[in-house]
Amino acid sequence: MQIPAFKLERYFAEYEFNVDYVLCASDCESLTIQDLLALEPNAAERFHQHWLGYTESLGSLSLRREISRLYCDVQPDQVLVHTGAEEAIFLFMHAVLKAKDHVVVHWPCYQSLAEVARSIGCRVSLWKAHEGNGWALGIDELKQSIQSDTRAIIINTPHNPTGYLMPSNEFHEVSRIAQENGIILFSDEVYRESEFREKDRLPAACDLGEHAVSMGVMSKTYGLPGLRIGWIATRNAEVYDGMAALKDYTTICNSAPSEFLAELALRHRKTFAERNLRIIAGNLKVLDQFFARHADRFVWQRPQAGSIGFPRLLGVDVDTFCKALVKSAGVLLLPGTLYDDHGNHFRIGFGRKNLPEAIARLEQFLQQF
Ligand SMILES: Cc1ncc(COP(=O)(O)O)c(C=O)c1O
Repeated sequence: MQIPAFKLERYFAEYEFNVDYVLCASDCESLTIQDLLALEPNAAERFHQHWLGYTESLGSLSLRREISRLYCDVQPDQVLVHTGAEEAIFLFMHAVLKAKDHVVVHWPCYQSLAEVARSIGCRVSLWKAHEGNGWALGIDELKQSIQSDTRAIIINTPHNPTGYLMPSNEFHEVSRIAQENGIILFSDEVYRESEFREKDRLPAACDLGEHAVSMGVMSKTYGLPGLRIGWIATRNAEVYDGMAALKDYTTICNSAPSEFLAELALRHRKTFAERNLRIIAGNLKVLDQFFARHADRFVWQRPQAGSIGFPRLLGVDVDTFCKALVKSAGVLLLPGTLYDDHGNHFRIGFGRKNLPEAIARLEQFLQQF
C-alpha cells in the first residue's frame, strides 16, 4: 500500500509532548483511571479482577450494548468496536472501496478521511466547505459531484477543524441523496454530544437507514483518547461483516482494560460531556474576547460544537507564525497547511483547562511578532 505521511499526526509527533501548551488539541480535557474508577462503587475491585485474555473481536457484548444506547434504532450486534476511530476509518474504506471507485469527501478534513480512499486508488472529489458562509456546505455542489459509480459520501459534523454543525434539514438531505443513489454515507460523528445547544444535535446517520454508517469514539466529547476505543454503528450487514473480517488483520480485538473503562465511562457519558462543555464554554468566552481585541490580526468564526475552530490569520504567513510561536513561546497551534488548506487558517483547540494561560502566552507573543 502506498500512502503519504499523515501530516497532522507527524506534526503532533514532533511537538505534542515537548511544548508548554498544546493550543490545538482536538480532544477535551482528559482524566485519570482513578477518576473513572471513582464513578461507581466496586469499580476499582472489578477492574483489578478484569481478565486479560483476548477479548471478543467485535467488542464485548456489554460494551456494544452500552454504545448502542447512543442510537435510537441500533442493536449491539450492529456495533463494531475498534482501536480508536482511526482504525474504523481505515477498515471502512478497505471493506467498502476498491480502486477507481468514486468517493465524495467533506473538506477540509481529518486527513485519513480522504487519504485512505486515495491510497486504495479511488477518485476522490472534495466537497468544500465555504468559509464565507460559516463553513457551510452546498447541497447543490454535492448533487453535482455525484457520479454513476460514486460509492461513498464521507461527512464529518460536528466538524474537524471548523466546528461546523450541519443544519438538520441539510443532514437529512445528504442522507436522502446518498440513499436514493445507492451510496453509502459514512458519517464521522466523533464530536457528537458536544453541541453547544443540545437542540442542535443531529440524529446519528445510522438511525436514518441501512445506507449509513455512524462512527463514534471515546476521544473527543468524552475526553478519553488514551483508551483508544472507537466504533461504528450500522444496520448495513454487508459493511459490518466486511469490516469485521478485516479487523482480524489489524488488531483482532481491543484492549481488555480499555473496554472495561470505556464501558464504565459510557455509563456516565453525560457527566463527561457536561463537564467538558463547561470547560469549552469558559474557554470560548476567553477566545471571543481575545479575538475581539485582535480583530486586526485574526478572523474568528465561532464554532457551534466540539472543541476546535479554524480562525484565519491576517497579514503574516501562518506557517511562519506557528513556527515562531512554538519556538519562542512554547505554544502549539496547527497551521491549516497540514490540511492542505491555503487560506492562512490555523486550528485552535479549546477543550483543555489551561487555555487561559496559553492565550495569555500567545498574547504576549503577539506584542513582539
Ligand atoms: C474528525 C476525526 N475523526 C477521527 C479521528 C481519529 O480519532 P482517534 O484518534 O480517537 O482514533 C479524529 C482525531 O483527531 C478526528 O478529529
